Amino acid sequence: MENRILVAVFSASGVTKRVGEAIARTCGGDFYEIVPKEIYTSADLDWMNKRSRSSIEMNDPSARPEMAGSAPDMAAYDTVIIGFPIWWGVAPRIIDTFLESCDFSGKKIIPFCTSGGSGVGRSDTALHKDVSGDVKWAKGR
Ligand SMILES: Cc1cc2nc3c(=O)[nH]c(=O)nc-3n(C[C@H](O)[C@H](O)[C@H](O)COP(=O)(O)O)c2cc1C
Repeated sequence: MENRILVAVFSASGVTKRVGEAIARTCGGDFYEIVPKEIYTSADLDWMNKRSRSSIEMNDPSARPEMAGSAPDMAAYDTVIIGFPIWWGVAPRIIDTFLESCDFSGKKIIPFCTSGGSGVGRSDTALHKDVSGDVKWAKGR
């Protein structure tokens, strides 16, 4: 059976994007970058500042930063590999935006992350709530 793969990543400073592109090349999948409508500036990413955009978003589990453009057509894929940088131990909120905006029924989702040192922790299972229907979640790496 054919296994059509999409590698979808959000990457604020390029690290996760490079890994995602390498995964897509290796597994022969398509690559899709989740681009925020409003790009994160370095001030937005300042985790030392409690009032930076990333701090405010990560303190609010209901924050859903908008994506630029429309989500890819999931009907074309069987497996979606989703990549993100760890922000405060979990995935950035725009990953919730992405997952909630697509129909993953019947698909397998494989999360991966990059980080400054943290492991995947609960960043993978914390995303399960965003997706309904019959979806097979792999353990995050
Ligand atoms: C707002 C923010 C929060 C972060 N929180 C963590 C963290 O909790 N643990 C960790 O190991 N790295 C943390 N990092 C570091 C990133 O996960 C790491 O640099 C990642 O590889 C960046 O990926 P990117 O270039 O694709 O954005 C954080 C970075 C930012 C900007």
